[in-house]
Amino acid sequence: MKIADIDLGDYPVVLAPMEDVTDQAFRLLCKEFGASMTYSEFVSADALIRNVNRSLEKIRVDEAERPVAIQIYGRDVESMVQAAKIVEAEAHPDILDINFGCPVKKVAGKGAGSGMLKNIPLMLEITRAVVEAVDIPVTVKTRLGWDCDDLKTPNRLSEERALIVELAERLQDCGIQALTLHGRTRSQMYQGVSDWTLIGEVKNNPYMKIPIIGNGDITTPEETKAAFDKYGVDAVMIGRATFGQPWLFKDVRTFLDKGEHDTEMTLDWKFEVLKRQVQKSVEYSLREDNALKERKRTELGGIIHVRRHLANSPLFKGIPDFKQTRIKILRAETQTELFELLKEAKSRIEDFQKTQFSV
Ligand SMILES: Cc1cc2nc3c(=O)[nH]c(=O)nc-3n(C[C@H](O)[C@H](O)[C@H](O)COP(=O)(O)O)c2cc1C
Repeated sequence: MKIADIDLGDYPVVLAPMEDVTDQAFRLLCKEFGASMTYSEFVSADALIRNVNRSLEKIRVDEAERPVAIQIYGRDVESMVQAAKIVEAEAHPDILDINFGCPVKKVAGKGAGSGMLKNIPLMLEITRAVVEAVDIPVTVKTRLGWDCDDLKTPNRLSEERALIVELAERLQDCGIQALTLHGRTRSQMYQGVSDWTLIGEVKNNPYMKIPIIGNGDITTPEETKAAFDKYGVDAVMIGRATFGQPWLFKDVRTFLDKGEHDTEMTLDWKFEVLKRQVQKSVEYSLREDNALKERKRTELGGIIHVRRHLANSPLFKGIPDFKQTRIKILRAETQTELFELLKEAKSRIEDFQKTQFSV
């Protein structure tokens, strides 16, 4: 599958953009385990224009992680165009992605992110202007609509079709090179389940020529394969299921390519990956970078970022009385402390597994 001339291979599986999660250290790990493409956290167009250091950190791209998309959000044409140009000039990503899907109040309430689903003419104007402003491919990520009225007929755009089917056509007409759909409306936030039927409807609309990337609630290799088989999407995007297990991509890739699960990933191996994730996070927090001149570079910065990943790892699900260890992980302040806690967590899992096998 190709986005413009970027070849993502067969059945691409991509890492979703996630604020405070998909920093460069995490993206590189996911890439190493087989993610076909990764996305940065979203970056505010206004913040970028103001030259905020944290935003510059977010748009930094390492050659090893290509292809990579940088995602921006904003609420007016001028700032989005300016931000798009900054991203292209400063970071040289492979793709510039526009966020029209964020549901949180501080973004959508101001008309940005999924707030644009209430102002389709502005959404299209921004998209057209950004496509025009940069040379790199522009893509869009959005939701199925603002609320459930957008899923039914009649709606604001068409008498017959769900809003997203027609909106996808119009976004394609603006010149975007791929469209990602999260199968929820804004008002659903993260409640309920993703509606993949509508994603499939967009994909199977004969007018659509650009790749459609399906997103929402994919947690396993089996679900990933079913999304391709049942809905015909060109790529699958995975978000929350990667928390604390960047190796998910390795299992998904093996399953898609060979029809079986990856058997190389032992418990020891997974804990080594988590330790590497800690190391990388600290390393990235400490590195020299002109853009970060004014920011304090500390080990703690990297630890604060990574400890939530670890605490949420599915490895710890179902381990009895794990709560205290999880709290300790969330309070750890140094790499040494986190490594000790990982050691403790691993022996807790091994003990638990022994009791399971002896039953
Ligand atoms: C912590 C968190 C942060 C997110 N940040 C972003 C973001 O910056 N940009 C974006 O387009 N979507 C963001 N999302 C939405 C995800 O990209 C994705 O669409 C959503 O989680 C559904 O996919 P999933 O069920 O695979 O997690 C975020 C989601 C989570 C949970």
